[in-house]
Amino acid sequence: MIITIDGPAGSGKSTAARALAERLGFQFLDTGAMYRVVTLVCLREQIDLHNEPAVSDRAAIITIRFDGHRVFANDEEVTDAIRTVQVTQGTSIVAVNSKVRGLLTTLQRQAAAGLDIVTEGRDQGTVAFPDAECKFFLTASPEERARRRQHDLRRRGEHLSIEEILAHQHERDRRDEQRAVSPLKPATDAIQIDTSHRNVHEVVEELEELIRQRSAAKP
Ligand code: DC
Repeated sequence: MIITIDGPAGSGKSTAARALAERLGFQFLDTGAMYRVVTLVCLREQIDLHNEPAVSDRAAIITIRFDGHRVFANDEEVTDAIRTVQVTQGTSIVAVNSKVRGLLTTLQRQAAAGLDIVTEGRDQGTVAFPDAECKFFLTASPEERARRRQHDLRRRGEHLSIEEILAHQHERDRRDEQRAVSPLKPATDAIQIDTSHRNVHEVVEELEELIRQRSAAKP
């Protein structure tokens, strides 16, 4: 069974998707981490992120591996390194690269083959897994999303004002929603959930209940 959870940054999808996978005993795939790994490697090697062929050539020879919460690029652990502000900003540039998207979509399908999996990102229900059994699209108000991001950054020792975060967020949303390939949008058959006024526990309960209803309704 494939469950897709898409939505913008700060919609709560990563935390909810991870918790849901644990509750169901499913595998979990963080596809944003894959785009972040490509960005980190390119930044370190001073490859211009706007140079699409150079970025996709490099992406084609990176080995990305997950081990629980930990992320590895060519066997080096990069779990924290892929979460910096610089990588976050760069990733929305890499994510418009159609060759990189093609490569990573293939890897995502390979990773999910034959498994029960919860996969989260921006295009999981629309492009990577259009036939997924259950699709969700999570949203939250821009202010709430920025507050969550500020909280995450503080925990990592980075201090940005809400205004700065809102400006970055607006820029990333614009890129994610307007790119020609796989723009961020809900699949037509996705269930949309606004998480602004709810905690993770409430969101996961609702997702589980909706999955149960879906499965019961299946012939
Ligand atoms: O979910 P995240 O913040 O880790 O995602 C990082 C970036 O990658 C973000 O700019 C959107 C992009 N992304 C994407 O385009 N498609 C995906 N399936 C996952 C992430």
